[in-house]
Amino acid sequence: MRKKLLVGNWKMNKTMAETAAFAHASFELLKNANDKNIDIGVTPPYLSLQTLLNINPKLIIGAQNVHHLEKGAYTGEVSIPMLKELGVSWSLVGHSERRTYFNETDASCNLKVLALLENNMTPLYCVGETLQEFEKGVTKEVIKAQIEVGLKGVEDVREVVIAYEPVWSIGTGKNASKEIAEDICAYIRELLRAIYGGNADLVRILYGGSVKPNNIKEYMAMPNIDGALVGGASLSVESYAELINNM
Ligand code: PGA
Repeated sequence: MRKKLLVGNWKMNKTMAETAAFAHASFELLKNANDKNIDIGVTPPYLSLQTLLNINPKLIIGAQNVHHLEKGAYTGEVSIPMLKELGVSWSLVGHSERRTYFNETDASCNLKVLALLENNMTPLYCVGETLQEFEKGVTKEVIKAQIEVGLKGVEDVREVVIAYEPVWSIGTGKNASKEIAEDICAYIRELLRAIYGGNADLVRILYGGSVKPNNIKEYMAMPNIDGALVGGASLSVESYAELINNM
């Protein structure tokens, strides 16, 4: 049985003071989530990681990106040992905004996934097609390459969490229908099953893209969707609380 998971991706939002306010309010969120047997977390900007860890380390606290190397001349980057020292145990990998604005590729994501796993951290690997790819009907080909290249060399797939986020649905208010989301999440599981056998059934696969309190329930009712990666609607405590209540 896969435990439900809700992750709020804050992107480039919230100062440390704003983060502290959310963290103080998060005890109530955690209590409600525990009552419903749901794991919850957030991926804030790097500067706010320590703030969250100091106030409520029981949340899943993840970075939004990592460099795959331990150290070196890579101005502006943050390494895995730096995050580990703080106590951060998760990181997003390959969010579509990283792929679009920072030229991340399936191959560069693969290096990050492997480096995180070597350090006993959990990669939350994001995949999804662009609007153009969706309209051309090549979604499955795109997802196949993203999964096969991005996870190449992963031995124990149970340590990976996957988010299917169609690029056209992120921040646009145009969420994918539950049928589309389920179809692709089931396809991802099928791809994983071909490589990892029965362990594919233990991998948590999230849907992301304009998930809101009023639509999260329909995704959670689908057999291959285990939770959500949520941007805009994860920013306020009230909305985060509603997401949990409606899961
Ligand atoms: P959104 O973002 O919920 O604001 O569409 C989702 C994401 O980028 O993970």
